[in-house]
Amino acid sequence: MDFSNRTPIVAGNWKMNMTRAEAKKLIEEIRPLVKDAACEVALCVPFTDLETAGAAMEESKRKLGAQNCHWAASGAVTGEISAAMLAELGVSYVVIGHSERRQYFGETDQTVNARMKAALSCGLRVILCVGETLAQRESGQTPLVICNQVKAALDGITAAQMKEIVIAYEPVWAIGTGKTATAQQAGEVCALIRGMVQGLYNEAVADALRIQYGGSMNAKNAAELLAQYDIDGGLIGGASLKAPDFAAIVAAAKQ
Ligand code: PGA
Repeated sequence: MDFSNRTPIVAGNWKMNMTRAEAKKLIEEIRPLVKDAACEVALCVPFTDLETAGAAMEESKRKLGAQNCHWAASGAVTGEISAAMLAELGVSYVVIGHSERRQYFGETDQTVNARMKAALSCGLRVILCVGETLAQRESGQTPLVICNQVKAALDGITAAQMKEIVIAYEPVWAIGTGKTATAQQAGEVCALIRGMVQGLYNEAVADALRIQYGGSMNAKNAAELLAQYDIDGGLIGGASLKAPDFAAIVAAAKQ
């Protein structure tokens, strides 16, 4: 496999944090720190921050992201946001299937798949999140869980559409807990995902696929995780809310 063509992507996942005023301030702090980034940088912000964040980001290397979208084009779905609404705001990436959505809001592999298709059909790129719980890891089910999630999410997705997809491996037990997967654990699962994608599509699709690790990635552990052959970036929660920490992770991500 040749991974020299994969541009790493570091994405901040702000979750339900930052008012518009706070978002503007944080982006103004981040901007000078990541201006020479060797990787792609995305900020996945709350819906209410999208317009402010988009205006504050400016440069093409930094991409605006959202944290979810609905599968329907429009309709009676109170509280949801469509992919077209995001595209209109200049959104490039949308996070789909985050474990917090799966755990707290009944997201299933089927709804993840439907949301992905809606996003892709509106020209958005997808950051697809997969990951096992602690109980699943401890009972040796990690490969099975990951394979099932990836397979179901990619059902009906074409090889051409795979160019628009980033997969984030986020072990649920590592998210927001301060417990990071070891570089070896993370690298193993990311390699498994790439192997699966090769089986589902072909070697070229697998080689081009960018796979992020997420789960308590921080300024200290980023370099070791990002040095793994199959890890092409990070999806960063807590550390993305502090400009110097986020910038240090971005600096650690080189092609
Ligand atoms: P964390 O979150 O970096 O705070 O663990 C990662 C994520 O949920 O995407």
